Amino acid sequence: MTADNGLNRDRGRASTARIYNYLLGGKDNYEADREAAEEIIRSAPDAPAVARENLRFAGRAASWAVAAHGIKRVVDIGVGISHGVPIPSVETCVHNVAPGARVVAFDHDEVVLAHARACRPGYGGVLHGDVTDLDGIFDHPAAGLIDTNRPMVVVLAAVLHFIGDATAVMDGLRERLAPGSVVVLSHATSTDTSEDRVGGMTKAYEGASSPINFRSEGEIRALALGWDIVTPPGLVDVQLWSVDGSYRGELYETVRVVGMAAVLPGRQQGQGHMPGGAR
Ligand SMILES: C[S@@+](CC[C@H](N)C(=O)[O-])C[C@H]1O[C@@H](n2cnc3c(N)ncnc32)[C@H](O)[C@@H]1O
Repeated sequence: MTADNGLNRDRGRASTARIYNYLLGGKDNYEADREAAEEIIRSAPDAPAVARENLRFAGRAASWAVAAHGIKRVVDIGVGISHGVPIPSVETCVHNVAPGARVVAFDHDEVVLAHARACRPGYGGVLHGDVTDLDGIFDHPAAGLIDTNRPMVVVLAAVLHFIGDATAVMDGLRERLAPGSVVVLSHATSTDTSEDRVGGMTKAYEGASSPINFRSEGEIRALALGWDIVTPPGLVDVQLWSVDGSYRGELYETVRVVGMAAVLPGRQQGQGHMPGGAR
């Protein structure tokens, strides 16, 4: 662990954020995290490569969404610990295409928040929030940062598979966000992956801060009911996600994470797609 910022607790229990950090090749993890991550890798040797592709997807899709829709507000929920990993973060990718955009980070893990505050200056706010409590996020005392009357981009990268009722989260976002908002989502899928591998990875997370729920592609697609999934590319392996087909990473069969961007419909014609424009 390089910097625990005084939050040196819970060492004995693996956390989803620090397991992910280990899979990414980061140094901000403890023995319990490394043991769980190694158990995941025994079931799915491609897990580190897919974790890195997931992080690339998050930045690529979020920056596409702000550029293509002219949105200047991004809420990144479940931000993880990825500083020091040589892959551009969500906030860096967003600022590359929209330097004035405000990116606000939420996580339910105080250790993640401490790292983000210390090491990710690109965030325009790092706040405690649980994705299962959307009122707590969008009515946060620092909510001046978040104007739900205007379209925003919400990033849910590799988070909803840690949530039992992911449908309730998406329904809640649909009720709260302005039309024209975009959700960028990635999720571990059981589709086209052997039951043994899925079972092994699920078991590895059992003692961690949250269990993992692998869902089928059909179940993940259904999370976007009431949203318009951006097609192409639709819901695809994260390493195949790009709107213009310009990005194509290697596919892996031992573990799959799929991603999509989905737009909340309901805007008047002519209001959408303002490339590079501010709202
Ligand atoms: C696998 S990491 C993904 C990090 C980042 N989004 C990415 O894709 O690179 C999952 C993150 O979600 C956070 N998380 C898990 N459950 C959460 C919840 N209920 N509310 C908010 N954050 C949560 C964890 O603390 C962790 O930081």
